[in-house]
Amino acid sequence: MSATPLWKGRLSGALDADFAAINASIDVDRRLWPQDVRTNRAYLKALMRAGLVTAAEGAAIERALDAVARDLAAGAVAFKGELEDIHMQIESELAARAGECAGKIHTGRSRNDQVATDLRLFAKEQAGRVIAELIALARALVARAAETRDVIMPAYTHLQRAQPVLLAHWFLAYAEMCLRDIARFAFARQQADALPLGLGACTGAPFAIDREFLARELGFARLCRNSLDGVSDRDFIVDYLAAAAGLFTHLSRLAEDLILWSSAEFAFVELAEPLSTGSSMMPQKRNPDSLELARGKAGRVFGNLMAMLTVLKGLPLAYNRDLQEDKAPLFDSTDAALGVLPVVRKVVATLAVRKERCAAALDGGWIEATAVADYLTRKGVPFRDAHKTVGAIVRDLAAAGRTFADLAPEEWRAYAPQLDAGVARAIAMEAIIAARDGIGGTAPSAVAREIERLGAELAALEAQEDK
Ligand code: ARG
Repeated sequence: MSATPLWKGRLSGALDADFAAINASIDVDRRLWPQDVRTNRAYLKALMRAGLVTAAEGAAIERALDAVARDLAAGAVAFKGELEDIHMQIESELAARAGECAGKIHTGRSRNDQVATDLRLFAKEQAGRVIAELIALARALVARAAETRDVIMPAYTHLQRAQPVLLAHWFLAYAEMCLRDIARFAFARQQADALPLGLGACTGAPFAIDREFLARELGFARLCRNSLDGVSDRDFIVDYLAAAAGLFTHLSRLAEDLILWSSAEFAFVELAEPLSTGSSMMPQKRNPDSLELARGKAGRVFGNLMAMLTVLKGLPLAYNRDLQEDKAPLFDSTDAALGVLPVVRKVVATLAVRKERCAAALDGGWIEATAVADYLTRKGVPFRDAHKTVGAIVRDLAAAGRTFADLAPEEWRAYAPQLDAGVARAIAMEAIIAARDGIGGTAPSAVAREIERLGAELAALEAQEDK
Protein backbone atom coordinates (compact mmCIF):
# COMPACT_ATOMS: atom_id res chain seq x y z
CA MET A 1 0.00 0.00 0.00
CA SER A 2 2.30 2.71 -1.28
CA ALA A 3 0.08 5.55 -2.48
CA THR A 4 -1.58 7.85 0.03
CA PRO A 5 -5.35 7.60 -0.37
CA LEU A 6 -6.93 10.87 -1.52
CA TRP A 7 -9.36 10.69 1.41
CA LYS A 8 -6.63 10.33 3.99
CA GLY A 9 -7.55 13.49 5.92
CA ARG A 10 -7.15 12.83 9.65
CA LEU A 11 -6.15 9.21 9.21
CA SER A 12 -2.59 8.03 9.40
CA GLY A 13 -0.95 4.77 8.49
CA ALA A 14 -1.89 2.22 5.88
CA LEU A 15 -5.10 0.28 5.57
CA ASP A 16 -5.23 -3.28 6.76
CA ALA A 17 -4.57 -5.38 3.69
CA ASP A 18 -7.63 -7.62 4.09
CA PHE A 19 -9.84 -4.58 4.55
CA ALA A 20 -8.24 -2.85 1.59
CA ALA A 21 -9.24 -5.81 -0.55
CA ILE A 22 -12.96 -5.41 0.19
CA ASN A 23 -12.74 -1.64 0.32
CA ALA A 24 -11.67 -1.33 -3.30
CA SER A 25 -14.43 -1.37 -5.89
CA ILE A 26 -12.31 -0.49 -8.90
CA ASP A 27 -12.66 -3.96 -10.42
CA VAL A 28 -16.41 -3.47 -10.58
CA ASP A 29 -16.87 0.27 -11.02
CA ARG A 30 -14.15 0.81 -13.62
CA ARG A 31 -16.79 0.38 -16.25
CA LEU A 32 -18.34 3.63 -15.09
CA TRP A 33 -15.40 5.55 -16.51
CA PRO A 34 -17.25 7.06 -19.49
CA GLN A 35 -19.94 8.35 -17.14
CA ASP A 36 -17.35 9.64 -14.67
CA VAL A 37 -15.50 11.51 -17.41
CA ARG A 38 -18.75 13.15 -18.49
CA THR A 39 -19.59 14.06 -14.91
CA ASN A 40 -16.11 15.56 -14.46
CA ARG A 41 -16.37 17.61 -17.66
CA ALA A 42 -19.72 19.09 -16.69
CA TYR A 43 -18.60 19.77 -13.13
CA LEU A 44 -15.44 21.51 -14.32
CA LYS A 45 -17.55 23.86 -16.44
CA ALA A 46 -19.80 24.59 -13.47
CA LEU A 47 -16.75 25.39 -11.31
CA MET A 48 -15.43 27.77 -13.97
CA ARG A 49 -18.81 29.48 -14.24
CA ALA A 50 -18.78 29.91 -10.46
CA GLY A 51 -15.31 31.44 -10.62
CA LEU A 52 -13.88 28.63 -8.48
CA VAL A 53 -11.50 27.53 -11.22
CA THR A 54 -9.75 30.05 -13.48
CA ALA A 55 -9.87 29.82 -17.27
CA ALA A 56 -6.22 28.73 -17.38
CA GLU A 57 -6.72 26.07 -14.71
CA GLY A 58 -9.87 24.92 -16.41
CA ALA A 59 -8.09 24.57 -19.75
CA ALA A 60 -5.30 22.54 -18.13
CA ILE A 61 -7.73 20.23 -16.35
CA GLU A 62 -9.79 19.84 -19.49
CA ARG A 63 -6.73 18.86 -21.52
CA ALA A 64 -5.85 16.33 -18.85
CA LEU A 65 -9.42 14.97 -18.93
CA ASP A 66 -9.20 14.55 -22.70
CA ALA A 67 -5.95 12.65 -22.32
CA VAL A 68 -7.30 10.43 -19.51
CA ALA A 69 -10.43 9.67 -21.51
CA ARG A 70 -8.30 8.73 -24.51
CA ASP A 71 -6.12 6.45 -22.42
CA LEU A 72 -9.11 4.89 -20.69
CA ALA A 73 -10.75 4.20 -24.05
CA ALA A 74 -7.51 2.63 -25.29
CA GLY A 75 -7.21 0.50 -22.15
CA ALA A 76 -3.94 2.23 -21.38
CA VAL A 77 -4.72 3.13 -17.77
CA ALA A 78 -3.42 0.75 -15.12
CA PHE A 79 -6.16 0.52 -12.50
CA LYS A 80 -4.79 0.56 -8.99
CA GLY A 81 -6.55 -1.10 -6.12
CA GLU A 82 -5.22 1.41 -3.61
CA LEU A 83 -7.09 4.11 -5.50
CA GLU A 84 -10.27 2.33 -4.42
CA ASP A 85 -12.65 3.37 -7.11
CA ILE A 86 -12.97 4.87 -10.56
CA HIS A 87 -13.52 8.38 -9.16
CA MET A 88 -10.20 8.44 -7.30
CA GLN A 89 -8.47 6.70 -10.17
CA ILE A 90 -9.52 9.44 -12.58
CA GLU A 91 -8.80 12.21 -10.09
CA SER A 92 -5.29 10.91 -9.55
CA GLU A 93 -4.75 10.61 -13.30
CA LEU A 94 -5.80 14.25 -13.62
CA ALA A 95 -3.36 15.28 -10.91
CA ALA A 96 -0.56 13.41 -12.65
CA ARG A 97 -1.26 15.29 -15.89
CA ALA A 98 -2.53 18.73 -14.88
CA GLY A 99 -0.56 19.14 -11.67
CA GLU A 100 -1.73 20.73 -8.48
CA CYS A 101 -4.67 22.65 -9.92
CA ALA A 102 -6.42 19.34 -10.71
CA GLY A 103 -7.26 19.11 -7.01
CA LYS A 104 -9.74 21.92 -7.53
CA ILE A 105 -12.09 19.65 -9.49
CA HIS A 106 -13.38 18.18 -6.23
CA THR A 107 -14.43 21.60 -4.87
CA GLY A 108 -17.84 21.28 -3.24
CA ARG A 109 -18.13 17.79 -4.60
CA SER A 110 -18.16 14.41 -2.90
CA ARG A 111 -17.84 10.96 -4.35
CA ASN A 112 -21.34 10.57 -2.97
CA ASP A 113 -23.02 12.95 -5.41
CA GLN A 114 -20.51 11.91 -8.07
CA VAL A 115 -21.19 8.18 -7.99
CA ALA A 116 -24.94 8.73 -7.77
CA THR A 117 -24.70 10.86 -10.92
CA ASP A 118 -22.57 8.31 -12.78
CA LEU A 119 -25.00 5.54 -11.90
CA ARG A 120 -28.00 7.51 -13.11
CA LEU A 121 -26.24 8.26 -16.39
CA PHE A 122 -25.44 4.56 -16.73
CA ALA A 123 -28.98 3.43 -15.91
CA LYS A 124 -30.51 5.89 -18.39
CA GLU A 125 -28.20 4.81 -21.21
CA GLN A 126 -28.57 1.09 -20.60
CA ALA A 127 -32.35 1.30 -20.22
CA GLY A 128 -32.36 2.86 -23.68
CA ARG A 129 -30.30 -0.01 -25.07
CA VAL A 130 -32.57 -2.60 -23.46
CA ILE A 131 -35.61 -0.82 -24.89
CA ALA A 132 -34.04 -0.87 -28.37
CA GLU A 133 -33.44 -4.63 -28.02
CA LEU A 134 -37.01 -5.14 -26.83
CA ILE A 135 -38.37 -3.27 -29.83
CA ALA A 136 -36.27 -5.51 -32.08
CA LEU A 137 -37.54 -8.66 -30.33
CA ALA A 138 -41.14 -7.49 -30.57
CA ARG A 139 -40.62 -6.78 -34.28
CA ALA A 140 -39.27 -10.31 -34.80
CA LEU A 141 -42.28 -11.77 -32.97
CA VAL A 142 -44.71 -9.72 -35.07
CA ALA A 143 -42.89 -10.72 -38.27
CA ARG A 144 -43.17 -14.41 -37.37
CA ALA A 145 -46.85 -13.91 -36.54
CA ALA A 146 -47.42 -12.41 -39.98
CA GLU A 147 -45.98 -15.47 -41.69
CA THR A 148 -47.56 -18.18 -39.52
CA ARG A 149 -51.18 -17.08 -39.80
CA ASP A 150 -52.11 -20.42 -41.36
CA VAL A 151 -50.63 -22.58 -38.59
CA ILE A 152 -53.23 -23.93 -36.18
CA MET A 153 -52.17 -25.63 -32.97
CA PRO A 154 -53.62 -26.41 -29.56
CA ALA A 155 -53.80 -23.68 -26.97
CA TYR A 156 -53.03 -25.18 -23.58
CA THR A 157 -54.35 -24.57 -20.11
CA HIS A 158 -52.76 -26.59 -17.32
CA LEU A 159 -50.54 -27.86 -20.14
CA GLN A 160 -53.55 -29.87 -21.37
CA ARG A 161 -54.95 -29.32 -24.86
CA ALA A 162 -57.69 -26.74 -24.50
CA GLN A 163 -58.83 -25.08 -27.73
CA PRO A 164 -57.38 -24.52 -31.20
CA VAL A 165 -55.40 -21.32 -31.66
CA LEU A 166 -53.22 -19.71 -34.32
CA LEU A 167 -49.47 -19.95 -33.72
CA ALA A 168 -49.46 -16.30 -34.79
CA HIS A 169 -51.54 -15.50 -31.73
CA TRP A 170 -48.87 -17.12 -29.55
CA PHE A 171 -46.15 -14.95 -31.11
CA LEU A 172 -48.24 -11.84 -30.50
CA ALA A 173 -48.78 -12.77 -26.84
CA TYR A 174 -45.04 -12.37 -26.30
CA ALA A 175 -45.00 -9.14 -28.31
CA GLU A 176 -47.54 -7.79 -25.81
CA MET A 177 -45.17 -8.71 -22.97
CA CYS A 178 -42.36 -6.87 -24.77
CA LEU A 179 -44.50 -3.73 -24.81
CA ARG A 180 -45.01 -3.98 -21.05
CA ASP A 181 -41.28 -4.53 -20.53
CA ILE A 182 -40.54 -1.45 -22.62
CA ALA A 183 -42.92 0.57 -20.45
CA ARG A 184 -41.19 -0.69 -17.30
CA PHE A 185 -37.71 0.18 -18.54
CA ALA A 186 -38.98 3.56 -19.72
CA PHE A 187 -40.31 4.15 -16.20
CA ALA A 188 -36.97 3.14 -14.65
CA ARG A 189 -35.19 5.49 -17.04
CA GLN A 190 -37.51 8.31 -16.10
CA GLN A 191 -36.88 7.62 -12.40
CA ALA A 192 -33.13 7.81 -13.05
CA ASP A 193 -33.51 11.11 -14.87
CA ALA A 194 -32.88 13.41 -11.86
CA LEU A 195 -29.48 14.95 -11.13
CA PRO A 196 -27.74 14.55 -7.74
CA LEU A 197 -24.50 16.33 -8.74
CA GLY A 198 -23.90 19.50 -6.76
CA LEU A 199 -25.40 18.10 -3.54
CA GLY A 200 -21.96 17.43 -2.00
CA ALA A 201 -21.55 14.73 0.61
CA CYS A 202 -24.97 15.10 2.22
CA THR A 203 -26.14 18.69 2.81
CA GLY A 204 -25.58 20.56 -0.44
CA ALA A 205 -22.65 22.60 -1.80
CA PRO A 206 -21.65 25.87 -0.07
CA PHE A 207 -20.47 27.24 -3.41
CA ALA A 208 -22.44 28.82 -6.22
CA ILE A 209 -22.64 25.65 -8.29
CA ASP A 210 -25.38 26.06 -10.89
CA ARG A 211 -27.15 22.73 -10.73
CA GLU A 212 -29.65 23.67 -13.44
CA PHE A 213 -26.67 24.21 -15.69
CA LEU A 214 -25.22 20.82 -14.69
CA ALA A 215 -28.53 19.14 -15.47
CA ARG A 216 -28.61 20.70 -18.94
CA GLU A 217 -24.99 19.74 -19.59
CA LEU A 218 -25.56 16.13 -18.58
CA GLY A 219 -29.01 15.80 -20.13
CA PHE A 220 -31.03 15.35 -16.94
CA ALA A 221 -34.71 16.27 -16.97
CA ARG A 222 -34.79 17.47 -13.38
CA LEU A 223 -32.81 17.90 -10.16
CA CYS A 224 -32.78 15.77 -7.04
CA ARG A 225 -34.27 18.30 -4.63
CA ASN A 226 -33.06 17.07 -1.26
CA SER A 227 -29.38 16.47 -0.62
CA LEU A 228 -29.84 13.78 2.05
CA ASP A 229 -32.12 11.83 -0.26
CA GLY A 230 -30.30 12.65 -3.49
CA VAL A 231 -26.92 11.21 -2.50
CA SER A 232 -28.38 8.01 -1.06
CA ASP A 233 -31.40 7.33 -3.26
CA ARG A 234 -31.03 4.15 -5.28
CA ASP A 235 -34.73 3.64 -5.95
CA PHE A 236 -34.06 4.10 -9.65
CA ILE A 237 -31.84 1.01 -9.49
CA VAL A 238 -34.63 -0.92 -7.77
CA ASP A 239 -37.00 0.13 -10.55
CA TYR A 240 -34.45 -0.86 -13.18
CA LEU A 241 -33.77 -4.23 -11.55
CA ALA A 242 -37.51 -4.82 -11.15
CA ALA A 243 -37.97 -4.11 -14.86
CA ALA A 244 -35.19 -6.60 -15.60
CA ALA A 245 -36.81 -9.19 -13.32
CA GLY A 246 -40.14 -8.72 -15.10
CA LEU A 247 -38.41 -9.05 -18.45
CA PHE A 248 -36.81 -12.32 -17.42
CA THR A 249 -40.10 -13.80 -16.24
CA HIS A 250 -41.31 -13.21 -19.80
CA LEU A 251 -38.15 -14.52 -21.44
CA SER A 252 -38.22 -17.62 -19.25
CA ARG A 253 -41.84 -18.33 -20.21
CA LEU A 254 -41.08 -17.95 -23.90
CA ALA A 255 -38.02 -20.16 -23.46
CA GLU A 256 -40.04 -22.79 -21.61
CA ASP A 257 -42.74 -22.94 -24.31
CA LEU A 258 -40.15 -23.36 -27.06
CA ILE A 259 -38.00 -25.85 -25.15
CA LEU A 260 -41.07 -27.98 -24.63
CA TRP A 261 -42.18 -27.62 -28.24
CA SER A 262 -38.75 -28.54 -29.55
CA SER A 263 -38.82 -31.88 -27.72
CA ALA A 264 -39.58 -34.99 -29.80
CA GLU A 265 -42.82 -35.38 -27.83
CA PHE A 266 -44.17 -32.12 -29.28
CA ALA A 267 -41.86 -31.39 -32.24
CA PHE A 268 -43.85 -28.28 -33.17
CA VAL A 269 -40.65 -26.32 -33.75
CA GLU A 270 -36.96 -26.78 -34.36
CA LEU A 271 -34.26 -24.37 -33.24
CA ALA A 272 -31.73 -23.28 -35.83
CA GLU A 273 -28.42 -25.12 -35.58
CA PRO A 274 -26.28 -22.11 -34.65
CA LEU A 275 -28.54 -21.64 -31.62
CA SER A 276 -28.45 -25.29 -30.53
CA THR A 277 -25.71 -27.34 -28.95
CA GLY A 278 -24.68 -30.95 -29.17
CA SER A 279 -23.73 -33.28 -26.36
CA SER A 280 -20.18 -34.22 -25.42
CA MET A 281 -21.38 -37.81 -25.02
CA MET A 282 -24.56 -38.40 -27.00
CA PRO A 283 -23.94 -37.79 -30.70
CA GLN A 284 -27.62 -37.54 -31.61
CA LYS A 285 -28.37 -34.63 -29.30
CA ARG A 286 -29.55 -31.22 -30.40
CA ASN A 287 -30.09 -29.24 -27.24
CA PRO A 288 -31.88 -25.90 -26.78
CA ASP A 289 -29.16 -24.46 -24.51
CA SER A 290 -29.71 -20.95 -25.85
CA LEU A 291 -33.21 -20.93 -24.41
CA GLU A 292 -32.22 -22.77 -21.25
CA LEU A 293 -29.72 -20.02 -20.51
CA ALA A 294 -32.38 -17.38 -21.12
CA ARG A 295 -34.55 -19.24 -18.61
CA GLY A 296 -31.71 -19.93 -16.19
CA LYS A 297 -30.37 -16.39 -16.03
CA ALA A 298 -33.71 -15.34 -14.60
CA GLY A 299 -32.44 -16.73 -11.29
CA ARG A 300 -29.56 -14.28 -11.09
CA VAL A 301 -31.64 -11.40 -12.34
CA PHE A 302 -34.28 -11.97 -9.64
CA GLY A 303 -31.48 -12.26 -7.09
CA ASN A 304 -30.07 -8.91 -8.17
CA LEU A 305 -33.36 -7.20 -7.36
CA MET A 306 -33.46 -8.86 -3.95
CA ALA A 307 -29.81 -7.93 -3.33
CA MET A 308 -30.49 -4.25 -3.99
CA LEU A 309 -33.64 -4.13 -1.88
CA THR A 310 -31.77 -5.78 0.97
CA VAL A 311 -28.86 -3.35 0.78
CA LEU A 312 -31.31 -0.44 1.03
CA LYS A 313 -33.42 -1.87 3.83
CA GLY A 314 -32.90 -0.11 7.12
CA LEU A 315 -30.11 2.09 5.75
CA PRO A 316 -29.93 5.31 7.76
CA LEU A 317 -29.70 8.60 5.89
CA ALA A 318 -27.64 9.63 4.09
CA TYR A 319 -24.77 7.93 2.22
CA ASN A 320 -23.40 4.69 3.69
CA ARG A 321 -20.71 2.57 2.18
CA ASP A 322 -23.21 -0.28 1.84
CA LEU A 323 -24.31 1.55 -1.29
CA GLN A 324 -21.12 0.55 -3.05
CA GLU A 325 -22.78 -2.86 -3.38
CA ASP A 326 -25.33 -1.37 -5.80
CA LYS A 327 -23.15 -1.73 -8.85
CA ALA A 328 -22.68 -5.47 -9.26
CA PRO A 329 -26.46 -6.16 -9.39
CA LEU A 330 -27.04 -3.26 -11.77
CA PHE A 331 -24.26 -4.35 -14.11
CA ASP A 332 -25.15 -8.02 -13.92
CA SER A 333 -28.82 -7.56 -14.81
CA THR A 334 -27.83 -5.18 -17.60
CA ASP A 335 -25.42 -7.74 -19.05
CA ALA A 336 -27.99 -10.50 -18.73
CA ALA A 337 -30.65 -8.48 -20.55
CA LEU A 338 -28.36 -7.19 -23.29
CA GLY A 339 -26.79 -10.62 -23.69
CA VAL A 340 -29.97 -12.68 -23.80
CA LEU A 341 -32.33 -10.43 -25.78
CA PRO A 342 -30.51 -10.70 -29.13
CA VAL A 343 -30.21 -14.47 -28.69
CA VAL A 344 -33.94 -14.88 -28.05
CA ARG A 345 -34.68 -12.59 -30.99
CA LYS A 346 -32.55 -14.81 -33.26
CA VAL A 347 -34.19 -17.97 -31.92
CA VAL A 348 -37.60 -16.49 -32.74
CA ALA A 349 -36.52 -15.22 -36.16
CA THR A 350 -34.97 -18.53 -37.27
CA LEU A 351 -37.29 -21.03 -35.62
CA ALA A 352 -38.50 -23.73 -38.02
CA VAL A 353 -42.22 -24.42 -37.60
CA ARG A 354 -43.57 -27.94 -38.18
CA LYS A 355 -47.06 -27.11 -39.33
CA GLU A 356 -48.15 -30.74 -39.75
CA ARG A 357 -47.05 -31.59 -36.17
CA CYS A 358 -49.03 -28.65 -34.85
CA ALA A 359 -52.08 -29.86 -36.80
CA ALA A 360 -51.62 -33.46 -35.63
CA ALA A 361 -51.75 -32.31 -32.02
CA LEU A 362 -55.30 -31.08 -32.62
CA ASP A 363 -56.48 -34.66 -33.19
CA GLY A 364 -57.69 -37.09 -30.59
CA GLY A 365 -58.04 -34.71 -27.66
CA TRP A 366 -61.66 -33.59 -28.23
CA ILE A 367 -60.30 -30.07 -28.52
CA GLU A 368 -63.56 -29.08 -30.30
CA ALA A 369 -65.59 -29.73 -27.13
CA THR A 370 -66.08 -26.07 -26.18
CA ALA A 371 -67.16 -25.30 -29.74
CA VAL A 372 -69.81 -28.04 -29.58
CA ALA A 373 -71.13 -26.51 -26.37
CA ASP A 374 -71.05 -23.07 -28.00
CA TYR A 375 -73.08 -24.49 -30.94
CA LEU A 376 -75.76 -25.70 -28.57
CA THR A 377 -75.70 -22.38 -26.76
CA ARG A 378 -76.26 -20.54 -30.04
CA LYS A 379 -79.32 -22.74 -30.51
CA GLY A 380 -80.71 -21.46 -27.23
CA VAL A 381 -79.49 -24.16 -24.80
CA PRO A 382 -78.23 -22.61 -21.54
CA PHE A 383 -74.44 -22.98 -21.43
CA ARG A 384 -74.43 -25.06 -18.25
CA ASP A 385 -76.74 -27.65 -19.85
CA ALA A 386 -74.69 -27.59 -23.04
CA HIS A 387 -71.54 -28.18 -21.01
CA LYS A 388 -73.13 -31.20 -19.36
CA THR A 389 -74.31 -32.67 -22.68
CA VAL A 390 -70.91 -32.29 -24.34
CA GLY A 391 -69.23 -33.72 -21.25
CA ALA A 392 -71.37 -36.85 -21.70
CA ILE A 393 -70.45 -37.06 -25.39
CA VAL A 394 -66.72 -36.81 -24.61
CA ARG A 395 -67.04 -39.43 -21.89
CA ASP A 396 -68.61 -41.86 -24.39
CA LEU A 397 -66.08 -41.01 -27.12
CA ALA A 398 -63.16 -41.47 -24.73
CA ALA A 399 -64.46 -44.84 -23.58
CA ALA A 400 -64.84 -45.99 -27.20
CA GLY A 401 -61.58 -44.46 -28.41
CA ARG A 402 -63.45 -42.26 -30.90
CA THR A 403 -63.44 -38.61 -31.88
CA PHE A 404 -66.14 -36.04 -32.71
CA ALA A 405 -65.43 -36.65 -36.39
CA ASP A 406 -66.48 -40.29 -35.98
CA LEU A 407 -70.02 -39.37 -34.88
CA ALA A 408 -72.80 -40.08 -37.38
CA PRO A 409 -75.62 -37.46 -37.70
CA GLU A 410 -78.09 -39.63 -35.81
CA GLU A 411 -75.60 -40.15 -32.99
CA TRP A 412 -75.23 -36.38 -32.62
CA ARG A 413 -79.00 -35.94 -32.56
CA ALA A 414 -79.40 -38.64 -29.94
CA TYR A 415 -77.48 -36.43 -27.48
CA ALA A 416 -79.51 -33.29 -28.29
CA PRO A 417 -81.95 -32.47 -31.11
CA GLN A 418 -80.13 -29.13 -31.64
CA LEU A 419 -76.99 -31.00 -32.73
CA ASP A 420 -78.07 -30.98 -36.38
CA ALA A 421 -76.16 -31.10 -39.65
CA GLY A 422 -74.57 -27.70 -38.98
CA VAL A 423 -72.47 -28.90 -36.06
CA ALA A 424 -69.82 -30.60 -38.17
CA ARG A 425 -69.13 -27.35 -40.04
CA ALA A 426 -69.14 -25.29 -36.85
CA ILE A 427 -66.49 -27.42 -35.19
CA ALA A 428 -64.00 -27.51 -38.06
CA MET A 429 -60.75 -26.04 -36.70
CA GLU A 430 -60.84 -23.09 -39.12
CA ALA A 431 -64.43 -22.32 -38.11
CA ILE A 432 -63.69 -22.50 -34.40
CA ILE A 433 -60.82 -20.06 -34.85
CA ALA A 434 -62.64 -17.72 -37.23
CA ALA A 435 -65.48 -17.34 -34.71
CA ARG A 436 -63.14 -15.66 -32.23
CA ASP A 437 -62.93 -12.43 -34.14
CA GLY A 438 -63.45 -9.89 -31.36
CA ILE A 439 -60.60 -7.72 -30.10
CA GLY A 440 -58.05 -10.01 -28.49
CA GLY A 441 -59.34 -13.19 -30.16
CA THR A 442 -57.40 -15.65 -32.28
CA ALA A 443 -59.39 -15.31 -35.54
CA PRO A 444 -57.17 -14.52 -38.55
CA SER A 445 -59.00 -11.20 -38.97
CA ALA A 446 -58.41 -10.24 -35.33
CA VAL A 447 -54.79 -11.33 -35.48
CA ALA A 448 -54.27 -9.30 -38.67
CA ARG A 449 -55.61 -6.21 -36.93
CA GLU A 450 -53.22 -6.72 -34.01
CA ILE A 451 -50.25 -7.27 -36.32
CA GLU A 452 -51.02 -3.91 -37.88
CA ARG A 453 -51.57 -2.19 -34.54
CA LEU A 454 -48.36 -3.60 -33.02
CA GLY A 455 -46.39 -2.58 -36.10
CA ALA A 456 -47.61 0.99 -35.77
CA GLU A 457 -47.01 1.06 -32.03
CA LEU A 458 -43.46 -0.24 -32.43
CA ALA A 459 -42.73 2.26 -35.20
CA ALA A 460 -43.91 5.07 -32.91
CA LEU A 461 -41.74 3.77 -30.06
CA GLU A 462 -38.76 3.55 -32.39
CA ALA A 463 -39.23 7.13 -33.57
CA GLN A 464 -39.54 8.28 -29.97
CA GLU A 465 -36.36 6.43 -28.97
CA ASP A 466 -34.41 7.84 -31.92
CA LYS A 467 -35.12 11.39 -30.76
N1 ARG B 1 -17.00 3.76 -4.39
C1 ARG B 1 -18.00 4.47 -3.64
C2 ARG B 1 -19.38 3.89 -3.97
O1 ARG B 1 -19.51 3.27 -4.93
C3 ARG B 1 -17.97 5.90 -3.95
C4 ARG B 1 -18.48 6.74 -2.86
C5 ARG B 1 -17.58 6.66 -1.69
N2 ARG B 1 -17.93 7.63 -0.73
C6 ARG B 1 -17.46 7.57 0.50
N3 ARG B 1 -17.78 8.52 1.31
N4 ARG B 1 -16.69 6.59 0.91
O2 ARG B 1 -20.30 4.10 -3.26
